[in-house]
Amino acid sequence: MRIGVFDSGVGGLSVLKSLYEARLFDEIIYYGDTARVPYGVKDKDTIIKFCLEALEFFNKFNIEMLIIACNTASAYALKALQDRANFSVYGVIDAGVWATKKVISDKNKEILVIATKATINSKEYQKRLKKEGFNNVKALATGLFVPMVEDGIFSGELLQSAFNYYFKDIKSPDALILACTHFPLLSKSLQEYFGKKTRLIHSGEAIVEFLKTHNNLQSLKYKARLEFYASSDIKSLKNTAKIWLN
Ligand code: DGL
Repeated sequence: MRIGVFDSGVGGLSVLKSLYEARLFDEIIYYGDTARVPYGVKDKDTIIKFCLEALEFFNKFNIEMLIIACNTASAYALKALQDRANFSVYGVIDAGVWATKKVISDKNKEILVIATKATINSKEYQKRLKKEGFNNVKALATGLFVPMVEDGIFSGELLQSAFNYYFKDIKSPDALILACTHFPLLSKSLQEYFGKKTRLIHSGEAIVEFLKTHNNLQSLKYKARLEFYASSDIKSLKNTAKIWLN
């Protein structure tokens, strides 16, 4: 099975890593819209327009499934892509909410969603978590983490300052949804900051488990040959892929 993975830029490589390691597919085509990243500060119509253009890109490849790795794109454009695509399209939000439900059974537990401004403003996570019965959900835009991760800042003083700035009024939640492609790279530092009590929910791991459960796919069965495309600077995307995917 050949599938596509779409992201606004390099961040989706964190989701690709989980898919690659799970070896659920023969071939994965990754496309990052590196020329127009970040999506997380853009408006709804622009995000949908860019995602529809990405769909056109994937139409050339005869894929059987498209995974939108980008949370911002999943928040605004999932339905538009599902309506137009002649293959199945999955976003990471459904998987993230599903994974949260699996690890947190008490609906009074505190859930914190961190994401880009656009994802938080879409209220998609908040609405879906509420629908599942969670009644103690906080959502926080932590956009500065995106350029920090792209600059290779995964720990240290600058990151701690950003944590103190964003989380000054936040007590350790029971679950922290890393609702942005870049945030899994901060997992270690976030776990140290909030302590062991907090369960981190990672979009990449969530989508792998989600697909295995809902599509009856099996891990470690396939080669997962990778092909990379970008709307600009493919070299830089490939370099990041080498680092992030080890
Ligand atoms: N990929 C985006 C997300 O997961 C983060 C980067 C961006 O703003 O485009 O929301």
